[in-house]
Order: sequence, then structure tokens, then C-alpha cells
Amino acid sequence: MSQPAIEDFANEDRLFPPPQGFQAEALVADDSLYREADADYEAFWARQARELLTWETDFHTTLEWELPDARWFVGGRLNVSVNCLDRHVAAGRGERVAYHWEGEPGDTRTITYAELLAEVERFANVLKGLGVERGDRVALYMPMIPELPVAMLACTRIGAAHSAIFGGFSPDSIIDRVNDGECKVVVTADGGYRRGAPSLLKPNVDEALESCPSVTGVVVVRRTGSDVTMRDGRDHWYHDLMAGAAPQCPPEAMDAEDLLYLLYTSGTTAKPKGIMHTTGGYLTQVAFSHKYVFDLKPEHDVYWCSADIGWVTGHSYIVYGPLANGATSVLYEGTPDTPGRDRLWDIIERYGVTQLYTAPTAIRMFMKWGAEEPEKHDLSSLRVLGTVGEPINPEAWMWYHTHIGGGRCPIVDTWWQTETGAHMITPLPGVTDLKPGSATFPLPGIGVEVVDDNGNPVERGGGYLTLTRPWPAMLRGIWGDPQRYRDTYWSHYPGRYFAGDGAKVDDDGYLWLLGRVDDVMNVSGHRISTTEVESALVDHPAVAEAAVVGATDDLTGQAIVGYVILRGTAEGSDALVEEIRQHVAHKIGPTARPKRVIVVPDLPKTRSGKIMRRLLRDVAEGRDLGDTTTLADPTVVDAIRTSAAEGPGSGG
Ligand code: PRX
Repeated sequence: MSQPAIEDFANEDRLFPPPQGFQAEALVADDSLYREADADYEAFWARQARELLTWETDFHTTLEWELPDARWFVGGRLNVSVNCLDRHVAAGRGERVAYHWEGEPGDTRTITYAELLAEVERFANVLKGLGVERGDRVALYMPMIPELPVAMLACTRIGAAHSAIFGGFSPDSIIDRVNDGECKVVVTADGGYRRGAPSLLKPNVDEALESCPSVTGVVVVRRTGSDVTMRDGRDHWYHDLMAGAAPQCPPEAMDAEDLLYLLYTSGTTAKPKGIMHTTGGYLTQVAFSHKYVFDLKPEHDVYWCSADIGWVTGHSYIVYGPLANGATSVLYEGTPDTPGRDRLWDIIERYGVTQLYTAPTAIRMFMKWGAEEPEKHDLSSLRVLGTVGEPINPEAWMWYHTHIGGGRCPIVDTWWQTETGAHMITPLPGVTDLKPGSATFPLPGIGVEVVDDNGNPVERGGGYLTLTRPWPAMLRGIWGDPQRYRDTYWSHYPGRYFAGDGAKVDDDGYLWLLGRVDDVMNVSGHRISTTEVESALVDHPAVAEAAVVGATDDLTGQAIVGYVILRGTAEGSDALVEEIRQHVAHKIGPTARPKRVIVVPDLPKTRSGKIMRRLLRDVAEGRDLGDTTTLADPTVVDAIRTSAAEGPGSGG
């Protein structure tokens, strides 16, 4: 037998069917959607598009597909802000709360659909007044304040595309993105609150705009009251322009395939890619998935996605999906440990949050902080929990299920990407029997196959995750670089989209994500996923969080080096490190036993919370560090170096 593309070690036999009471009330409780989509996926999506959205002109063709170019809902015309706002107000739901906004210092705003529409129309006129026209791009560099969704929706109202730039990014990142998209206007704020203090944004814009010739206007929201310089003729206060803006702005009817937004994903080394999302298909799939994956009952639910709007999760599941569905959401500006480590649980209790959508990295941090924090609050309003961003280790899943969900909430582990625009692999909470750590099955209408090195489907075991057919929310390209679009996604395996992730299929056909294939380790010819070893490490009771990398090794090609953060009370020692190594061997097999385990105080993460394994490889191989500009906290690496040289597991 030939070597598998990626080895398959872990075996999970816990199974959590949908709780009976939940299933009885669920929007879907059987396999009808799957069957419908299997029979004819285009007809399935056409039905969703017509049922979930309001079209100004109906489409005549569901899909035109010539790899790698897709056109969905051809001939259809619609306006996104109308779908997110006007139609709810027209239906008499203008008084429903769109956002319960909470600032980090504790200030709050309640914004109804009618109020949001009024503000969006005014701001759309502000943008027009600054010369923004249909087809232009507007950069948004903002904190998590209501003016951010307002600005996004105002762009959609007049047919301009937005390009959101995460507020943690540096002036250089602003320059790259603004220039690549040739943005005309930048919307920003003086700053936002993070960890109890204002974090300034406007000075970064000022620095960046020295090198951005396309920008003619800047709008600044006053959030923190910090001193900022305003350049005459270019910079304007949001409140001044709004005071003078006309209250009504008729929506532009956009083609289903008109550009809705650009969102840049940073490859680890190369220039960031401007991922293009268009109008009709994107809105259909985000509305569909938000409704069914979270079992949304908009008249009762208070939904909360704790991501930042600057990432795709916020675009799709704070702004477009929830608003298209007329949902009430929580929008929180700040960090989860300000003023206390129970901030999230306090918010859930006060607003009666019913769905919480967060990231595994956050869950592991909550685990490290301990169950006493959520125990201070009544979390009984929660019905569905979600995760996104990376594979969730079974132990973190169990902790989330037990300590946040009270054992009664289904967990939807949603696999998707900036490029896919919306959920692709995820349970449906009233339908799917869950296995901790598995994203389970493709959504209805989505085609997924795991393949081997030759592109042949793998029925059972590990390989590469591919998507076998177009989907409505798929990226339509990389801005300005069609060749890179084709090369990156469509040329690895003929006829398939390659996601860059490893995955395995278990005996029951469940899908398990194994992390980025670039991170797969090769130990004596065995290809081992970082995810499985990390999950085995986190399975040890003393370990809160883990990252593993393959470091060059004379004997085995690569050797597994594990970096672990211990739970609150655990003490690092050589004996514990040895015990943790053996735990991995016992849990998933001796081939996967790390050669070294190093206890560290923290792990290097990007600002969106993904572990930067490349830097850990540099440390393990004693190299100078590569580019560290995308690190959330650059001091972490020094602490890890010291631990690697002197701490438990250093051998020193
Ligand atoms: O590796 C997968 C991981 O995150 C990547 C996409 O990252 P990004 O474009 O930043 O979008 C994040 C929010 C959708 C994927 O290629 N990923 C995301 N969700 C999961 C995941 N890995 C495993 N399980 C998930 N649920």
C-alpha cells in the first residue's frame, strides 16, 4: 500500500445527537435540505436566493460556470442595503433592535433597524458628497463601533465596494491595501478602546496617506476624543458631514455579479491577496448559512459573533448574514478581559444572548482562565454555540460544551475561509450528531472531497481538502491578478478548488480538518498533521494550549517540537514534560510523540488569533526570525526563545 497523503491517528468515539427539546423546535430537524440539494444543487440555491432575498429584477440563469469563473444568479438585480434594512422596516419591523452595541468602557447604544437605515442613508449621501460613485472603492479602518456597519451598508447603497482594513494593522498594511484597491475615500476614527485605553487609528491613516495618491477624502468618527490632526480639505469629522447630509438616498440596483467588497488575506510571505466578493451569490449564502447553521429565530434570538468586523467572519456573520435575516445582534468593541475575565459572560447574561460564535483560540484562553469566570454568570439563555478559524481540539470542544453551553447547546464547528465567503463544512444543530473536534459534513449544496497526492478521492483517512463545484459565495477572483487566482486555487487538482487545508474522513464519513498543508510535518516519511498532535497535547490535563512544528532533524528529516502553555495551576518540570510526551504517544501513537516539548508562557499569534508556526520553526531550528510584522504581540517570541533555551524541556 502506498503512503497516505497525511496520517490518520486520533479516534474520537463520543457522539452528541441534537438534544430532543432542541430538535423539536429547530428550523430543520431532518435531512430534507441535504436531499433537495443533492438532487439539484443549482435549483436548491435558486430557491434559497428567491426565498431569502428581495430582488429588484429576478435572475434568469442560476449559474454560468467556466472554471475558474462563476456567475451566479445571472440577470438578477438587487441592493444589499435594501435587503439588510429597508425591507425589514417596510415590513413593520423598524423597531426591532439590529445591534445592542457595547463599548469597552461600558457605554452602550441600542440601534433599531429604522435608526440604522436612517444613518446609512445619510452616510451614503456623505460618501456621494465626497465624490464616491458606483464602482469606486472605499477603505474602512475602524474600531468595532456602529459607524463601521453603517459605512459598509452606505457603500452598498450607492454601489461602491468597501475594503475593510483591520484596526490592528500598521500604516504599511494600509498603504498596500489602499493602493492595490485604488480607494478614493478612507473612513476611520480617532481611535477605539482596547484593554482599557484608547488605541489610536487616525495617526496611522495620516502616515499611510503620505503614500496613497488615490485618496481624496477622509472621514473621521470621534470615538475616544483623543487629539488628532485634521488636514484641511481632505479630512472631515463624521458628525459634521452627517449633520449636513440629506436624509434620503435611493438605493442603486446592482447586478448580482457587481463587486460588493474586497478583503485582503495576508499570505505568510507574498503580497496580500484582494479577495473579491460579489453581490447576489454572497448575500444568498451568508443569509442561508446564518439562518440554518445558527437555527436563527429572529423574533426571539439575541445573536453574538465576537469576531472583529475587519475579518471575513465579521463581514459575513456580524453584518451581512444577521442583517439580511433581520436578526438582533450584540456588537462589542473591546477585549474579553477588560475590565475582568468574565466580560463575555457578563454580556451574555445582560443581553440574554442565545447564540455565541467565537474562535477556538478564545475558548482555550477561557479554559486557561478557568471555569470560575463563566460560573459567575447565568448563561442559560444560550441555545447554540459556534466556532470558527481553526480546528477545535476535542478537549476545548468539551470545555465549551460543558462550561459555556451547560451541556445542552449544540456546537457548530464551521469550516470556511475568506475565499469561500460563507460556511462550507458545518453541522446543522437540529440535524447532525456531533463529534467533538469534527466540522462534520458539507452544508447542503456544497461539494467537498478529500483527495490524495494524485487528486484521487480518499474514502477513509487523511488527504487534501478540495471543493468539487462552485458555490454562491465563492470568491470571484483576486483583485487585479486573475492568473494568481487560477494558480492559487484551481490548478493543484484539475476541476477542483484547493483550499490549502489537510483533512481526513473517518469511518462514518465525518470530516476532520487537519490544519494548513504547509504546516504538515514529515517524520521519517510519515506525514503528520499539526492539529492531531496539538489536540493530543491539549488532552493532557496540565496543558491549556499547544503548537507543534516540524524542525529539521538529521535522523528523521523532521522532528516534532511541541510548545505548550500550562493551565493555571500546573508547574513546569522536566518530569511533567516527559509525561506530556508520553501522553501523546499513548493517545495517538509513538510516531507522533514529540521529540521535544517546551513549556512557554505564550504563543506567537497573528492578530486574528492564528498561531504563527513559521516563527516557532525558526526558534526550533535556531534561526533568525523572519518577518514578524503580523504578530499581535512581538515580545512573545523572546519569551519563547528564553524558555526553549532554559526552561523545562530545554534539556538544559
Ligand atoms: O485553515 C482553515 C482555518 O482557517 C482558514 C481560513 O482562514 P481565514 O481566511 O482567515 O478565515 C477565517 C474565518 C473563516 C482555513 O483555510 N479554519 C477556519 N475555520 C476552521 C478552520 N480550520 C478548522 N476548522 C474550522 N472550523
